[in-house]
Amino acid sequence: MGGQTGLFLFWLHVFCEVVLADVWKVDVEHKMEALVSSCVVLPCKFTYPAQQQPSDRIRGIWHKEKKWDDIIFHGDKTLVEDNFKGRTKLIGSLGGSNCSLEIDEVKNIDNGPYCFRVELETAPEDKYSFAENCVSINMIEEAPNPVVEAETSVLEGEPAIFKCSVRHTCPTHQPSLSWNHSGKIISSYKSLGHGNWEAESLLTFTPTKEDSHTSIECTVKYHGNVKGKMKASRPVFVKEKATLSHIIIPALSGLGAALLVGTVCFLVVKRYRFRSGEGRSELGGREQRQVHKRLLCALLQQSRTADIPFENIPNGLLLIVKSY
Ligand SMILES: *[C@@H]1O[C@H](CO)[C@@H](O)[C@H](O)[C@H]1NC(C)=O
Ligand SMILES: *[C@@H]1O[C@H](CO)[C@@H](O)[C@H](O)[C@H]1NC(C)=O
Repeated sequence: MGGQTGLFLFWLHVFCEVVLADVWKVDVEHKMEALVSSCVVLPCKFTYPAQQQPSDRIRGIWHKEKKWDDIIFHGDKTLVEDNFKGRTKLIGSLGGSNCSLEIDEVKNIDNGPYCFRVELETAPEDKYSFAENCVSINMIEEAPNPVVEAETSVLEGEPAIFKCSVRHTCPTHQPSLSWNHSGKIISSYKSLGHGNWEAESLLTFTPTKEDSHTSIECTVKYHGNVKGKMKASRPVFVKEKATLSHIIIPALSGLGAALLVGTVCFLVVKRYRFRSGEGRSELGGREQRQVHKRLLCALLQQSRTADIPFENIPNGLLLIVKSY
């Protein structure tokens, strides 16, 4: 590295430190949600005007808003309010400017707001309570159902995927999701930002006819003794896969019906001609038969185009045919 570049980088570094870090600043989510009895992690990042310090030279404290003595987290456990003893933990590294706090066994009175305070060993005045940027927690007493997603109908013999997911704010103890159907399961979780997380489970299996008209159920198990709706299910409809025989059989039966209709019409016409040749053609009877014949052929034709199997043509009609 050339001397000039080095010098430039040095000044850039100084400039950035002055502009970006020379302030007491905290970055938190002002409103969080938490499931009672589970855990909640309050995301937190901070900057201070002094040089970057290692973790053991930074003291991080969380206290209640406007009550600096109501301490919910302190490195010295004896200073922590009884109600929070053993329930709070800094999960980030203070040396990495991470002041994220975990509150475990969340109680419905843990609403806060809570504020972060930092004390540096660099100078006696290097202490700061970020009293303007505190976090309040909205308590959820009953967990909502997990969400199950899948296609409405699945194909027999083709892999089907079912997805189950829950949102939560306890990333240090992810909830577990399980299914009441065997298959390949892939579990994962991701951050949705702002302290919210989603745990998800993908179930892949190959449906059989026996699966049709049943339900597949997903059960969530949260960290802690959470109340609420832990199950959700989704019906399964299995569509038979179209095979060659499924295409050929209907085609053949359609063709057969058409041939039969054609033959019957032909016979009716022939029989009529034969009878009228016999001279039994009084005008009334003849006209009647003419009408019958047309009606019958039209009906048969209709039944063919509508793809009604020949057997389903009402017996009455066949009787008329026989009468000719
Ligand atoms: C703070 O630390 C926690 C725990 O290691 C981590 O999950 C989180 O991503 C960190 N936050 C930031 C802003 O680096
Ligand atoms: C799974 O749970 C659903 C919903 O309770 C139920 O209808 C179904 O029979 C269960 N399946 C099995 C394989 O137990």
